[in-house]
Amino acid sequence: MVQFIFWLLLPLLHKTCPGHAWVASNFLMTGPKAYLTYARSVQVGAHSGIEECKQQFAWDKWNCPDSATQLKGLRRATRETSFVHAISAAGVMYTLTRNCSLGDLDNCGCDVSKNGKIGGRGWLWGGCSDNVDFGERISRQYVDAQETGQDSRAAVNLHNNEAGRLAVKATMKRICRCHGMSESCSVQTCWMQLSDFREIGNYLKIKHHNAQKLDIDKKRMRAGNSADGRSAIMDAFGSIAKTELLYLEDSPDYCRRNVSLGLYGTEGRECVQHGEGLTHWERRSCRRLCHECGLRVEERRTEVVSSCNCKFHWCCKVNCDNCSQVIVKHVCARREAGEGHGFRWRHRGPK
Ligand SMILES: *[C@@H]1O[C@H](CO)[C@@H](O)[C@H](O)[C@H]1NC(C)=O
Ligand SMILES: *[C@@H]1O[C@H](CO)[C@@H](O)[C@H](O)[C@H]1NC(C)=O
Ligand SMILES: *[C@@H]1O[C@H](CO)[C@@H](O)[C@H](O)[C@H]1NC(C)=O
Repeated sequence: MVQFIFWLLLPLLHKTCPGHAWVASNFLMTGPKAYLTYARSVQVGAHSGIEECKQQFAWDKWNCPDSATQLKGLRRATRETSFVHAISAAGVMYTLTRNCSLGDLDNCGCDVSKNGKIGGRGWLWGGCSDNVDFGERISRQYVDAQETGQDSRAAVNLHNNEAGRLAVKATMKRICRCHGMSESCSVQTCWMQLSDFREIGNYLKIKHHNAQKLDIDKKRMRAGNSADGRSAIMDAFGSIAKTELLYLEDSPDYCRRNVSLGLYGTEGRECVQHGEGLTHWERRSCRRLCHECGLRVEERRTEVVSSCNCKFHWCCKVNCDNCSQVIVKHVCARREAGEGHGFRWRHRGPK
């Protein structure tokens, strides 16, 4: 019966999200009821993690996988896969926690365990604190179930999942409301609320930058039995804080395309050259993505037609003109044969 429902659902999941593999394996663990309750939220959460990854790395040579499940086949533990594990686990926890506070789920609600207690000078706990413990627990069940191995790579992936979930907690904010005579604020009630997911992305991007390479005693791994190997792994983890991202292998050359390694290269990627309020990182994006990868910057102009100057005529018609607007984009493209290393880019049109 259970198997039957599973196969019935599988094509449906295929259609809705590439993250189905996670959910499918969890289904076998916890039965159809729990599976149906959280599956959708887990999919949405994993997907929002990947979307945030693409935002955070928009101007980096590496630009995230298309789905979190893509990592499973690649069997690597680089600085970049550490970010994907963390942001996906965080996304799942975040979505479920939000669902919980919004009352989307029957068996879960706000965390009111501290309500009525004194929190600090002049304030009491009250209101709806986001129930992160719930989100954390379900994220562990679904996301961590993917790591079935006993090797150092599985241990590193699990560590990074946990670092992602800790990021959700570390970025939470205390929100307060004033009470007392005519809002004099002599007493406040406060609750803990999730930050925007963007802030969790920003936080983990810094962790990515500072990620540490795990140093495992390779001799002990090779010589010993599997128990020895596991304790060598545990020893290596000993000195590393749970909040830090970890990796095992150096990053490959993200300039070059190699689909079997899940690398897309930077050819065809967009970069930015002009614009108000660009950060230093953005301003150098064409150099980073194109020039450093032996590509040139190509200017692409597209004309977009949209309606404008709309007038209302009695009664009842709206007439509009067609206005065209030229959109300029910069894209990394291969150098033409014989072209030197000089940076040839013609500046055309108004700035
Ligand atoms: C949880 O929230 C997400 C995003 O807001 C939504 O798409 C999903 O349907 C929600 N899950 C449930 C069970 O309501
Ligand atoms: C992709 O990487 C694999 C493994 O390193 C290598 O064997 C293969 O030749 C590469 N393919 C291309 C197109 O570079
Ligand atoms: C605007 O463009 C549409 C579709 O391209 C066309 O049908 C319409 O007649 C145009 N309107 C004017 C005012 O030129």
